[in-house]
Amino acid sequence: MRQFIKLTGCLAAAGAIASCQSAPKEVANYQVVPLPQQIVAAQGAPFVLKSGVKILYPQGNEQMQRNAQFLAGYLKTATGKDFATAEGTEGKNAIVLTLGQVSENPEGYQLKVSANGVTITGPTAAGVFYGIQTLRKSLPIAVGADVALPEVDITDAPRFGYRGAHFDVSRHFFTIDEVKTYIDMMALHNMNKFHWHITDDQGWRIEIKKYPKLTEVGSMRDETVIGHNTGKYDGKPYGDFYTQEQAKEIVKYAADRYITVIPEIDLPGHMQAALTAYPELGCTGGPYKVWTMWGVSDNVLCAGKDQTLKFIDDVLSEIMDIFPSKYIHVGGDECPKTQWAKCPLCQKRIKELGIKGDKKHSKEEYLQSYIIGHAEKFLNEHGRDIIGWDEILEGGLSPNATVMSWRGEDGGIEAAKLHHDVIMSPNSYLYFDYYQWKDTKNEPEAIGGYLPLEKVYSYEPLPASLTPEEQKYIIGVQANLWTEYIPTFAQAQYMVLPRWAALAEVQWTTHPKNYDEFLVRLGRLRHWYDAEDYNYCKHVFEQPAEAEAPASAEKEEAK
Ligand code: ACM
Ligand code: ZN
Repeated sequence: MRQFIKLTGCLAAAGAIASCQSAPKEVANYQVVPLPQQIVAAQGAPFVLKSGVKILYPQGNEQMQRNAQFLAGYLKTATGKDFATAEGTEGKNAIVLTLGQVSENPEGYQLKVSANGVTITGPTAAGVFYGIQTLRKSLPIAVGADVALPEVDITDAPRFGYRGAHFDVSRHFFTIDEVKTYIDMMALHNMNKFHWHITDDQGWRIEIKKYPKLTEVGSMRDETVIGHNTGKYDGKPYGDFYTQEQAKEIVKYAADRYITVIPEIDLPGHMQAALTAYPELGCTGGPYKVWTMWGVSDNVLCAGKDQTLKFIDDVLSEIMDIFPSKYIHVGGDECPKTQWAKCPLCQKRIKELGIKGDKKHSKEEYLQSYIIGHAEKFLNEHGRDIIGWDEILEGGLSPNATVMSWRGEDGGIEAAKLHHDVIMSPNSYLYFDYYQWKDTKNEPEAIGGYLPLEKVYSYEPLPASLTPEEQKYIIGVQANLWTEYIPTFAQAQYMVLPRWAALAEVQWTTHPKNYDEFLVRLGRLRHWYDAEDYNYCKHVFEQPAEAEAPASAEKEEAK
């Protein structure tokens, strides 16, 4: 798509604002993050956003009413003024939110500004919401001021349908209010999939009524290792969990912002917290302890026991009741096979299934595919689909699985060639627990790695090694936030902002990349970070160029 920037007339020249006596000093700028696909500017007089402007929405449409209220909230933050919302379809001196077939993409929108008013139209309320986000981000934060909105016609739609952000709340727990803020931050970046990593070795964080000990026992660890598995521990019990009601509250909060919550129950590995609660589900029978250190645990679900399969079904049943999303993420990553290789029941299962190892995969890897296949069949029978980390390719992919490619892009490429949907989330570009600045001594401790903003921005999710037909299987892009070294929400915000801005460009726009122009647009977005009181990494604004990568650019753990 093309972009036209053609400002003429009163607002054309930089000095024009001063020379137009009646024009407000503050002017909107539509060059936002992510950059809209097409901006056609024109010569007419601007619309002036001032007291008395109304926000109108279609009669009886609850979602559009909510959209209007969101917009009123954003305008209040930008200008300090209250703008009334009301039912209606047209009016002078109004911002009209309306539904109409302006885009084939359900998330597309059109934003038109003229002296008479502003109209945001989308084929769905979600599309209108993204138009509202663009309008919001075009505004300066100028409390008390009137703002001139230059005449414009913006046509926009996202490049990818899956625009994800992940949050690990197992390694460290984040409150419901913090999760809501994370979702608000996602909305500001036009994201629509919240991947909520709610179970892991270090804490089970979601209430499951049929297995109450998962949270009574599995949500608490005795203490936490200090630093990078130093062998020293802090001696402080740590843990918490979400009730099903709280999780549903998050689902609703996200849905109101057109964000789907995709829960992850990571199986059959990453289960030490669950095994602590129900040791009979493991190969050794335990005893286990909710893990107090970081890494990959050998303690995994026993694949030979029928009660493990029942546990998976029972947990997934309750998860489906809480989370209406089409996708349920079933993990599948980092499941050591050491205990399965020794476990008589796992070996019996392998025999019964007639599994044989071969040059490509061990028989235990095929056994993992059997477990993931079981989970997929169960979810498919209930109308849901699975996402799994790229390890689910090992031992054969379940028929309808979507692959989340994290160990680089190879898994995603292989899956796309097999005609499976893929979400690109390579650690080399999209693991935001990595350092973002070379002077790591003065950074909050991170897991390792080095992933500066510019590298995130440079990411191209469609591998050149795929044919155009195969590239269609890349349905989206996601960044992940693992929280071993992120104990506070302020630090979580610091790790994702402003890297999410670069991610948003990758997820949304089709424009050729221009990092310098992006930085200028980001310079305006940061005012919204400030206005919303989001913590963020400021180095790039103070010292945009970094000379070299840090000495400790190696990833310190297998992740
Ligand atoms: C992962 O980072 N273990 C998916
Ligand atoms: Zn076993």
